Amino acid sequence: MNQIPEEFQLKEKINHTDYLINGEINSWNGKQTNVYSTLLCDSDEKEPDLIGYTPEMSGEYALKALNAAHDAFNYGQGDWPTMKVYERINCMESFVKKMITKREEIVRLLMWEIGKNLNDSRKEFDRTVEYINDTIQEYKVIDRKGATFQNKSGVRALIRRGPLGVVLCLGPYNYPLNETFALLIPAIIMGNTTIFKPAKHGVLLIAPLLEAFKSSFPPGVVNIVFGRGREIATPIMKTGKIDVLALIGHSSSAISLQDLHPQKSRLRLVLGLEAKNPGIILKDADIDLTVNECISGTLSFNGQRCTALKILYVHEDIKDEFLKKFSKAVDELKLGLPWDNTLLTPLPEPAKPDYITNLIDDAKSKGATIVNKRGGDKQKNFVFPAVLYPVNKDMDVYKEEQFGPVIPVISFTDISTPIKDMSESNYGQQVSIFGKDVDTLGPIIDSMVNLVCRVNLNSACQRGPDIYPFTGRKDSAVATLSVHDALRSFSIRTFVASKDNELNKNILREMIDSKKSHFIRTDYYL
Ligand code: G3H
Repeated sequence: MNQIPEEFQLKEKINHTDYLINGEINSWNGKQTNVYSTLLCDSDEKEPDLIGYTPEMSGEYALKALNAAHDAFNYGQGDWPTMKVYERINCMESFVKKMITKREEIVRLLMWEIGKNLNDSRKEFDRTVEYINDTIQEYKVIDRKGATFQNKSGVRALIRRGPLGVVLCLGPYNYPLNETFALLIPAIIMGNTTIFKPAKHGVLLIAPLLEAFKSSFPPGVVNIVFGRGREIATPIMKTGKIDVLALIGHSSSAISLQDLHPQKSRLRLVLGLEAKNPGIILKDADIDLTVNECISGTLSFNGQRCTALKILYVHEDIKDEFLKKFSKAVDELKLGLPWDNTLLTPLPEPAKPDYITNLIDDAKSKGATIVNKRGGDKQKNFVFPAVLYPVNKDMDVYKEEQFGPVIPVISFTDISTPIKDMSESNYGQQVSIFGKDVDTLGPIIDSMVNLVCRVNLNSACQRGPDIYPFTGRKDSAVATLSVHDALRSFSIRTFVASKDNELNKNILREMIDSKKSHFIRTDYYL
């Protein structure tokens, strides 16, 4: 029996029944979904451990949540979308203060529900708090910029950003707090109203925040429901009342949800989808640095990151040395429980070990070998990362986003090979390029910046810091997220214009002095 530190133990099953609709937390007394943990802390354990229950709400309740959000927005005339900016900021500040008090509870559940290690779970929480605080500051900057009249060709204008409407937020299981909040928080603060359904895994950890949402925001601004995507999101989309679909997850879900909307041209999309970021290792790369970056790039959180390096291209001249050192480094990695803080931890999706094993078997049957000694060793809840070489385009591991611990490697002699593969790929999020020679790197970087949206030089791919733009080309993303860009993605420019004459000037002056409008004002918040 592994010793679970006292502070991380789950003493009893969590019977979560609460949901938040229209400013009221109510208890669901219908069907519930079992929540399992795949940690298998006791080595005798063979099956995932039942750690709690969560509501499996019906379409009827999904529509109640939608109607609450719709009424709160009220075609842009609700209290929230017309509220003074600083009042919305006050609500967000109140929320973040309450959220911070739930840190330990949420971190513990991140570990149990998705197997994220302790340091990364804490990082996910702290990064989310920082994201909210940065968003508040950035909104003040945006608001300040909108506090000045422009005057061009005899037309005076006060241009600001306004909300879009009702937003459906769906986040991923690998960052159930951070990535979901990276959608939800900017959507809310810009004056939209929201319905949020947590991902399939990482659900219980949202429950401790319901009260903070309820007490910080007016009724209907944030509605939180639990259940299956098909049951909840399908009827909501079919109504046509959703203005923004904000989803981080798989394109198949995004496409089927868009297709349900009866008036597609009015549906805005904010999507973070699949990626197959390559790591490209040139012949003059610093091997030790590259090995380190490729370890974290391919295997942080077991490779379950959209930004993970999912395929490595290594120059033929250094292939043997790289594969030797990289395989050794992979074999030295430890698998442990989240509180052991190992890089490798159990996989939260019960079907993932079989999926990864199938990818390995398929690659082997088509000519690849497992280069590292421990590669492919399977347990009930894990597969030890396999370094596969040589990989070719017929293999499933080349074509699919593996989102797990398997590392396909291809060798090349001419940089045009990986660049051509990137051009033909359906994805275009990021790339990592490893090398030193500026004459070689310069033109490669110039090509790559037009194939993806972030070129990482001698560094693994990653999303952060969150003030940098996070987006992708082709099938990898729609819209840009960053502290600043997300506020733009969830809003639209809207303005008041007037012919520059005495009548209008007097009206505007009086409006500003009397503070009769929340929109027409030239003051700003510090
Ligand atoms: O799953 C995709 C995440 O956006 C990756 O974020 O690079 O900070 O791990 P990260």
